[in-house]
Amino acid sequence: MSGLATFLPYFKALHVVFVVTWFAGLFYLPRLFVYHADTTDSLSNERFKIMERRLYLIMSMGASLAAVFGLLMLITAPGYLSMGWLQAKLVLVAVLIGYHLWCRKLVLVFAHDANTHSQRWYRWFNEAPSLLLIAIVILAVVKPF
Ligand code: HEM
Repeated sequence: MSGLATFLPYFKALHVVFVVTWFAGLFYLPRLFVYHADTTDSLSNERFKIMERRLYLIMSMGASLAAVFGLLMLITAPGYLSMGWLQAKLVLVAVLIGYHLWCRKLVLVFAHDANTHSQRWYRWFNEAPSLLLIAIVILAVVKPF
């Protein structure tokens, strides 16, 4: 092995570390929305806004670093790009990034006290990252095609 390829296992390890960080936020932020949607007192309302803003920043860092190490693997070993499982995975990752940006929009909606969704709606919204996680990890580990 030469050059960047020596680091490939480290890129993979760090990729998984930051995927975990990212998902901590993707699971917990919509949970905060569930509780926030039912909040009536202003002290809790303001506290939720701060928690949501900070969590969003941290999970965005996790997402960016997971993507950086994922892309470093693709640069190191471009052969990945011709594999079906990786292409399917990237489509689901694009959906996940869409969900992440939707969370950003909801953080801003709450920040302006303009939420219109019910607690129940957020409970359903909260399910999407689990489904994407299961599908993406199966593609990455099993590599079915
Ligand atoms: C920015 C987007 C991403 C890119 C470019 C990317 C790329 C890659 C690449 C090239 C590998 C190496 C595969 C191997 O050698 O087996 C990998 C591994 C992995 N990725 Fe990603 N990935 C991305 C996002 C994600 C996300 C969002 C998840 C989880 C939901 C994820 C979970 C994993 C896991 C668990 C592995 C380890 C697989 C194994 O070692 O068997 N990746 N990724």
